[in-house]
This record gives sequence, structure tokens and C-alpha cells, in this order.
Amino acid sequence: MSWEESTRQKMLHLKLPTDPRWVNIAEMKIGDILTDHAYCEQKAASSCISLILRFFDLPELVDTLTPIVAEEWGHFERVLEQIRKRDLNFGEPRKDEYVMRLQGFVKKGGNRAQQLTEVLLLNALIEARSCERFKLLSKNIQDEELQKFYYELMISEAGHYVTFIELARKYQDPEKVNARWQEWLDFEAEVLKEIGIRGDRMH
Ligand SMILES: [Fe+2]
Ligand SMILES: [Fe+2]
Repeated sequence: MSWEESTRQKMLHLKLPTDPRWVNIAEMKIGDILTDHAYCEQKAASSCISLILRFFDLPELVDTLTPIVAEEWGHFERVLEQIRKRDLNFGEPRKDEYVMRLQGFVKKGGNRAQQLTEVLLLNALIEARSCERFKLLSKNIQDEELQKFYYELMISEAGHYVTFIELARKYQDPEKVNARWQEWLDFEAEVLKEIGIRGDRMH
């Protein structure tokens, strides 16, 4: 799937584009960015595993997310490889303010379908933002190998974004999903505005 195709549904309906200066400062701290990125991939894999454990009785969800776990862990391995080959330090996991703030927006209670919708939209949003950042890196970073690497990951995360949204629309009234998605997008823009840009983190 080409980037254009995968974004046909205007996945980057994100309400706040990343400040393009982020790439320049990220590039200066590429070791920190790669470390942070590796943990983002780990969290993506972990999050799919949690969904599988919690919603084991939904066969399509389980069968769709199982290969994504492997894919995300494959991304982790590849980021680690980029760190090692550049002799950079693989640092400790940091407190992920962005994800923690978004998790705080998850509606508590409701029925199981509503709970599932919340988690799927949370995941979709993180994929969409990661995709947007990978696109910026692939277009603007000097390191040619990383340009290609980030282009490839951008395509992959775009696919995951679509998968999460489609799953949400499968298990919940699509109109409700769309309405809630808009609330998530608004909230995410506020969070990013408040956090500001930092060159040592992916979000
Ligand atoms: Fe990934
Ligand atoms: Fe992903």
C-alpha cells in the first residue's frame, strides 16, 4: 500500500501539525530519539498483547492483532540495531508524558464495547501521531539510512492506524466511533500544545 493510499481516509486528521523544527532538534539527539522510539515500539507490542488478553473472546480482534505484536516487536529489534550500529547508548525508559496524558482521557466504565472503543482509539491516535513524526523524519533527516527506515515504518504504522479504526467500527456503532474520534483528536492537540516539542522524545 502506498503512503497516498494508506492516507486516503485522511488519517492525518490530527488537529495540530508537529512544529517542523522538531526534526532539527531531534537529529541532534538521535541517540535519545532512537531509544525513545524503541520503547514506543515495545509499548505498541505490549498494548496489542494487553488487548488480546482482555478481549480474547473476539476472534477477529485476536487474529488481527496477533501478527501486529510480532511486527511491532520486529520494529523494536530494528530500532535497536540502528542504535548498536551507530554505537549509540540504549538508555532507560522515560516517563511517557504524552501517552500517560492520553490514557487519562480514556472513559472509565461503560459497557465492554465502549471500553474496547476507547482503547482502540487511543492506539489509533498514537499510531497516527507516530506516523506523522516518522514522515517528518523520513523527509528531513540527513542520515539517508534513517530516511529510508522511517519511510518504511511510516507506511507500517499507517496500516496499524487503519486497522485500529476499522476494528473500532466493527465492534461499535461507526457513528459513535467517529464522534468519539473527533473528541480524541481535539484532546490530543491540546496535550501536544501543552507538552511542547522536545528533541529527546518521539512525542
Ligand atoms: Fe511500530
Ligand atoms: Fe504500529
